[in-house]
Amino acid sequence: MKVAFVSSEVVPFSKTGGMADVSAALPKALKTLDVEVKVFTPKYGKFLDKNLKLKIIKNFPSTEILINGNTKNVKYFSSTLPHSNVEVILIENEFYFGRDNIYTTDPDEGERFIFFQKAVLEFLKQTDWIPDLIHLNDWQTALIPYYIKEKYPVFRSSASLLTLHNVAYQGIFPPDILPVADVDEKLFFPTGPAEYYGNFNFLKMGIFFSDVINTVSPTYAKEILTEEFGAGLEGILNERKNDLVGILNGVDYKEWDPASDPLIFENYNSTSLELKTENKIGLCKEIKMRYRKTFPLVGFISRLTEQKGIDLLIEILPELLKLKACFVILGAGEKKYEEQLLEFGKRYSSKLKVIIGYDNTLAHKIEAGADIFLMPSRFEPCGLNQIYSLKYGTAPVVRATGGLRDTVIPYNGNDSNSLRNADGFAFDDYSATQFLKTVQFAVSTYKQKGVWKKLQLNGMSRDFSWDVSAAKYKELYEKAIRQKREV
Ligand code: ADP
Ligand code: GLC
Repeated sequence: MKVAFVSSEVVPFSKTGGMADVSAALPKALKTLDVEVKVFTPKYGKFLDKNLKLKIIKNFPSTEILINGNTKNVKYFSSTLPHSNVEVILIENEFYFGRDNIYTTDPDEGERFIFFQKAVLEFLKQTDWIPDLIHLNDWQTALIPYYIKEKYPVFRSSASLLTLHNVAYQGIFPPDILPVADVDEKLFFPTGPAEYYGNFNFLKMGIFFSDVINTVSPTYAKEILTEEFGAGLEGILNERKNDLVGILNGVDYKEWDPASDPLIFENYNSTSLELKTENKIGLCKEIKMRYRKTFPLVGFISRLTEQKGIDLLIEILPELLKLKACFVILGAGEKKYEEQLLEFGKRYSSKLKVIIGYDNTLAHKIEAGADIFLMPSRFEPCGLNQIYSLKYGTAPVVRATGGLRDTVIPYNGNDSNSLRNADGFAFDDYSATQFLKTVQFAVSTYKQKGVWKKLQLNGMSRDFSWDVSAAKYKELYEKAIRQKREV
């Protein structure tokens, strides 16, 4: 089975969030299941890893992509995913991708990803590598199902799967993008596949045209059918609900395992949990916070956006800082959140450290050094940090939504049954009061050493490696290909 896996972020080439981790780990896992997979991604100006080696692909038949009647040049580079022989094709155009950030608010943001998608299809066509299925990820790739059905007869028998990592990001642009996107105006009418409240919507096109669709957790697949979580696309998602499934993300334990993680102070596993303390001491030293033996260290790592429940966190911070606990926050994103958090950090510097920025090494050190990890998300398609936390013996406190509900088994404190499997804490409503109560409960549970250790061991023993989920993707590919060939 040949699969082209197309994503706008792939670790270690680029990353803004969890989709980048998935776009590296899933193709590697698929390869072990005998899926012949090639990954396609833009070659951005700045690489995440400066040491990456790329090879230019020479003598390409045509390096011109037609956008709205104008030709734009493309260069193709080849590389592999680390620790694998999965090929990655990187698409370069200095003008579109040589910018400071992966995503921009520039007026041609939509055009950048139209170019990307066309360049992928041109590559496949010209190298005559016609995939059985093209796997798309989020809005930046969501026009491909339309292109392969309507614009490129050569892909007549290729099936398509669109993975929704987050329906809140849809790629909405004014209708004058239609000719740039090469989308037939007939599709642009109220309630039509291309139209969304007077604008053009990439993701809606993808949901309409792809053969099958999935989200990154089973709960999120149900949630997006409702007004609360559908972000305005619940109508079309309900129309496609027979072709919509939820497959929980896995994680890459080669990168995220305290037993072998090279980025943390001291490696540990479930039989050497006492060494976790060395990570707490090391982290406190690094972030210049006094190490307090009896206080739990509470961590938070996130993009600072509304999705992640930052407003709840900010609301309860003054109360949290009254607890016998210390806090470390690492994040970057919306200015207003960055400023508010920094202000708190200044005011309560003995118990709270706020680091604004993106720092992968520090993220690993926080996972290893913290005792409790907060994820009060308003919505969470899957979430990876709570899964990393489980592995690092760092009890997550989560809002029970989307993938957070599907991965954390909450402790209720009332019966010994609950402790048998529990590995974290959860609250249901998006409410500051509930969040505060749950953190208070976690902090008081931390004092019960026996209970705490059981929670840690339960979490560390759970297995979210990609094997199971990759097999589910393979089954979904087979279903989509069958469906396509029956038509
Ligand atoms: P999302 O993709 O919505 O941001 P996920 O939980 O799926 O949420 O993935 C987030 C990923 O990004 C994790 O690997 C996390 O460690 C990483 N991350 C987020 N913010 C930062 C940051 N400021 N510094 C380092 N890593 C970060
Ligand atoms: C998105 C979601 C996150 C998910 C990630 C990877 O960024 O916000 O919940 O884990 O994609 O699928």
